[in-house]
Amino acid sequence: MRVVSGIQPTGNLHLGNYLGAIRNWVRMQDSLGLDGQCLFFLADLHAISMPHDPAQLRRATREMAAAVLACGIDPARSVLFNQAQVPHHAELQWLLGGTARMGWLSRMTQWKDKAGKNREGQSVALFTYPVLQAADVLLYQATHVPVGEDQKQHLELARDIAQKFNNDFAAEGAPVFTLPEPIIPPAAARIMSLRDGAAKMSKSDPSDMSRINLTDDADTIMRKVKKAKTDADPLPEEPAGLAQRPEALNLVTIYAALADRAADDVLREFAGQGFGSFKPALGDLLVATLAPISARLRDLLDDQGALDQILADGARRAREIAHPTLDATYEALGLLRTAS
Ligand code: TRP
Repeated sequence: MRVVSGIQPTGNLHLGNYLGAIRNWVRMQDSLGLDGQCLFFLADLHAISMPHDPAQLRRATREMAAAVLACGIDPARSVLFNQAQVPHHAELQWLLGGTARMGWLSRMTQWKDKAGKNREGQSVALFTYPVLQAADVLLYQATHVPVGEDQKQHLELARDIAQKFNNDFAAEGAPVFTLPEPIIPPAAARIMSLRDGAAKMSKSDPSDMSRINLTDDADTIMRKVKKAKTDADPLPEEPAGLAQRPEALNLVTIYAALADRAADDVLREFAGQGFGSFKPALGDLLVATLAPISARLRDLLDDQGALDQILADGARRAREIAHPTLDATYEALGLLRTAS
């Protein structure tokens, strides 16, 4: 098994980011043991498909790398790097450009959503984004790709590209690319703002009280949980009783996600109790999970040299793994490269 996945670098990471992709990566790594290999990367090349600020991208890439490490990705077991240090991604993307079809890309819902009515004004990179994503996984002969439901279509496209390429250009009869399988985790919990149960927890909310940052210390976490918006009613026996209580539902959802329990199960324990007793329990659980992460994260961010070294090592290992597939692709396409 070879697992490959990427995440776009964003700064100011919070609980929602942790309970989304990052925790899944850590579980993947920990469950795989010696039966396979994981490669995880920061998709910084994808980030330039939208208007961006270079200084902010550089900072976000380091922050995301630090967060991934702090959450438990172990560079001794998994290969962690950023795309920009492995030029093979960009090269393979170009080589796949002869195989990917305009029609396939035009049907991508992410492209349609992001471009809206203004397709002509979008960057070429936003349109070809899924080809780079295909290159990301095909380059390493990935067998499995953990992604959110929203990325499933991009994975199917990667399979279509691989299939057509293998069909059109098999190298001496042998297929060049492995067809990757998506791994879609069971619906990730939607983590909402602590101030408004109808808005997603977000790094861009002006109120810092609306989110639990991965850099928050224990006191800050406790304070935010105690101040979280709720209502005066006790917790119900069943999730159905939370239907009209979005803030209460959010806190129960967070508890369940952290404890790895179903919401029904959490409610069975807390039914009839008010937030005066539920909030401290939630705060304790958050602190137990996040305090070690935030301590590691702050250490990693304080030692940029060490962090950059981890990424450089990861990139070196990634280039080694990528090299044979990239060579085979040039070869299959009939591109002449004489030994230098
Ligand atoms: N597009 C993915 C996202 O926004 C990130 C990504 C880039 C990715 N390349 C990938 C995910 C390759 C899996 C495999 O979430």
